[in-house]
Amino acid sequence: MVSPLRVGIVGAGGIAHGVHAKRYVDHPHTELVAVMSRTKDKARAFAADFDVEHAYDSLEEMFKQHDLDAVSICTPNKFHYEGTIAALKAGCHVLCEKPPAMTEDEAKQMAEVANRTGRILMYGFHFRHDLEATVLKKFVDAGELGNVYHVNVQAMRRRGIPGWGVFTNRELQGGGPLIDVGVHMLDLAMYLTGFQEPETVLAQTHQRIGTRPGVGLLGEWDADNYSIEDLASGMIRFQNGMSLVLETSYAANVAKDEYLNVSLMGDKAGADSYPLRIYEEKHGALFDKQPAYLHDLDDRTSHERQMDHFIECCLGQSSPITTAEQGVVIQRLLGALYESARTGEAVKCHK
Ligand SMILES: NC(=O)c1ccc[n+]([C@@H]2O[C@H](COP(=O)([O-])OP(=O)(O)OC[C@H]3O[C@@H](n4cnc5c(N)ncnc54)[C@H](O)[C@@H]3O)[C@@H](O)[C@H]2O)c1
Repeated sequence: MVSPLRVGIVGAGGIAHGVHAKRYVDHPHTELVAVMSRTKDKARAFAADFDVEHAYDSLEEMFKQHDLDAVSICTPNKFHYEGTIAALKAGCHVLCEKPPAMTEDEAKQMAEVANRTGRILMYGFHFRHDLEATVLKKFVDAGELGNVYHVNVQAMRRRGIPGWGVFTNRELQGGGPLIDVGVHMLDLAMYLTGFQEPETVLAQTHQRIGTRPGVGLLGEWDADNYSIEDLASGMIRFQNGMSLVLETSYAANVAKDEYLNVSLMGDKAGADSYPLRIYEEKHGALFDKQPAYLHDLDDRTSHERQMDHFIECCLGQSSPITTAEQGVVIQRLLGALYESARTGEAVKCHK
C-alpha cells in the first residue's frame, strides 16, 4: 500500500479521540478520511474536531463512499465483530480495540476473514509496545529467565469503576474488569511467555461493590444497571506445565488505587513488568536488577507506538506483533474463565 494511507474510524468515543484519530492526523503516512458512529451527530462532532469532512452512521455507506486502506474499530465490544468483518470485506487492514470480540467464535470468524482477504487484523493490546514489555520480552526470548513455569497477572483497581460509557453493561461489553483491564495484563503474560497452549481454567467472579451507589476515581457509576463483576480471579494450566494466576478488579478493598503487573517465575530468574525488575540467582547469591532508566528516543507513548506499528505493517514495512490468531486464544481464555466462574467447574480450554 502507498502512503498516505486512507483511514477510517468506527466508533467516535474516548479511545478513538484520544489515541486513534489523534495519531492518524499527526502521522505523516496517514490521512483520516471518514468517521462512522452510532449516531450521525456524534460522528459529525468527532469529524469536526479533526477537520474531517465525511461522517456516517452506517458502515455500509462509509465503505461504499470511500476506498479506505485501513480502519480502527473503537466501538463498545459487542460491535467489534460487525465493524471488523465489514472493514475486512471492504479490503481494509484493521486495528480493532481490545478485547477482540464477545466470543471465541466471533474472534475465529474475524481471523478467518482476515486470512481469506489477506488483510492485517491487529488488536489494541498496547501494553506489548511499552518499553518495559519490549525489554522484558528480550530477556525471556534470550532464555535469561530459563524455563518460565509460573506467572502472576494482576490488574487491580481500588475504586476504578468507569462512570461513563457502557463499561458496566455486560450485554454491550461482554464482561467487566476481566475483559477490560485484566485482558491487557493477560495478553501481556501470554505474549511474554510465547502464547503457550492452555489446558484447563478455573475461575471465580464477584459482584460486591458496584451494585451499591458510589463515587470512585473514575466518577460516579450506575449502580442500578451494574451487570458485571467487580473482581475476577482465575488460574490457567498450560500444556507445557506452566501455571498462571490472575486477579483483576474495578473495585476492591485493597491498598493501591491501581496496580498492573505481570510477574514471571523462571528456573534461572524471575521478573516483574511494572516496575521492570529481574530477580536472579548468580554465583551463590540472589540479585535484583533494574534499569537505570527506560526511555525512547522520541518519547512516544505505548499507544502511539502501537499506532505507528499498525501503520508500518499496513505499508509493508513491518510484521504485526499482534495476530488475529492470538486474539482467538485470548478470547477462548476469557470465555473459559467466565464459564468456569458461572458453573463452578474447571473448564478444558485447549484447541
Ligand atoms: N486500549 C486501550 O487503552 C483502551 C482504552 C479505552 C477503551 N478501549 C476499548 O475501546 C473501545 C471503545 O471504548 P471507549 O472508551 O472509546 O468507549 P466510548 O463509550 O467512549 O466510545 C464508544 C463509541 O462507539 C459508538 N458506538 C456505539 N455503538 C456503535 C455502533 N454499533 N457502531 C458504531 N459506533 C458505535 C458510541 O456512540 C461511542 O461514540 C472498547 O472496546 C474498549 O474496550 C481501549
